[in-house]
Amino acid sequence: MIKHVGVAIKKIMLVFGTRPEAIKMCPLIRELQARQNIEVIVCVTGQHRQMLDQVLEVFEITPDYDLSIMREKQTLFDISISILSSMRTVIESTKPDIVLVHGDTTTTFITSLVCFYLHIKVGHVEAGLRTHNIYLPYPEEFNRQAVSIISSYNFAPTEVAKQNLISEGKDPSTIYVTGNTGIDALRTTIKNEYQNEHLSWAMDSKLIILTAHRRENIGEPIYNIFRAVKKIVEENGDIKVIFPLHLNPVIRKAANDIFQNNDRIRLIEPLNVIDFHNFMKRAFLILTDSGGIQEEATSLGKPVLVLRDITERQEGIDAGTLKLVGVKEENIYENIKLLLDNHLEYTKMSQVCNQYGDGFASKRIADILCC
Ligand code: UD1
Ligand code: UDP
Repeated sequence: MIKHVGVAIKKIMLVFGTRPEAIKMCPLIRELQARQNIEVIVCVTGQHRQMLDQVLEVFEITPDYDLSIMREKQTLFDISISILSSMRTVIESTKPDIVLVHGDTTTTFITSLVCFYLHIKVGHVEAGLRTHNIYLPYPEEFNRQAVSIISSYNFAPTEVAKQNLISEGKDPSTIYVTGNTGIDALRTTIKNEYQNEHLSWAMDSKLIILTAHRRENIGEPIYNIFRAVKKIVEENGDIKVIFPLHLNPVIRKAANDIFQNNDRIRLIEPLNVIDFHNFMKRAFLILTDSGGIQEEATSLGKPVLVLRDITERQEGIDAGTLKLVGVKEENIYENIKLLLDNHLEYTKMSQVCNQYGDGFASKRIADILCC
């Protein structure tokens, strides 16, 4: 803590490395930068490169440190070793009072480990999400549980997340229910007058947005998912699918294998977050194995068939927006068909809910950190 003419300045470093962390940390960076008694340092690991840079560009954030660690087809070992060795130098030289990490990526876990070794306090944004199975999602459930052992501040997005932490023995005085900062991002990205060539193409159809990237879905599950979508499109002439492909080459290969030569399925490059949120707003249905999209869709009142066997976003299931459909071709197909054929089922899944926040999570977190 540095003192300038009698005012204590807290040095807060925010660390992130992938697209979803960036989308959820940038609103918080902006909020902290607006506070007078905080010095904000932004460090990105570059676990993602292009997909991270897309977000930084939209939010106009220039990191103070960029570790640039991404390699094509990187393993968990590659990411961990690179961050462990370079993050120590950054944190030792900047000496932050608190390091804020987000969620459950390898960037998050390894950065927290470095802080633990250096006796630096960790604040965990989006703390307390759980499936209680450390292999699902893999390795994210392990990462977030491990960070919870280390963290001094736990910013839980929901009451459910808070209770998860309490049941693991976390000191309740370290837990703050704030809402999810991802919903803060939605407040700035959704635009009524938004237009896009892909949306014009899909205007006369029911638009399905598909995304897929989870490590545990790579292999047979991803092929099952894609085959189910292909079959639905072939059987229903009024459907068009937009699939912004994750840059993971393994996912891209599977998508190209299954979806080639279908003029109602568009495989496109990752959208910037403004485009993606506005595409969601206009979608009929979302099919995804993503985490953050489950929260955003719940706020937008868009039905989501979750392409996983288990979710840490139970609130959206309870609200009726999310439905777990697993990774078996037949089950995915049947559930899409149900929403196409049954208006009542579709309407039940299309209610706007604010389970994940009211758009002011960053403000709450900044207020707590400024005390
Ligand atoms: C990572 C996170 C996951 C998060 C996801 C969000 C871990 C272990 N996984 O998974 O929790 O849900 O990000 O998308 O932390 N690539 C590029 N450019 C990019 C991004 C990725 O080329 O901008 C390619 C690279 O070949 C890279 C591969 O995608 O090797 C996989 O990236 P990686 O960060 O290892 O895993 P994700 O599946 O993206
Ligand atoms: N997203 C985006 N462009 C895309 C696809 C997704 O900006 O083409 C956003 C989406 O709105 C959400 C986040 O990326 O905020 C989710 O990222 P991802 O699915 O990669 O990771 P997860 O949330 O599963 O960790």
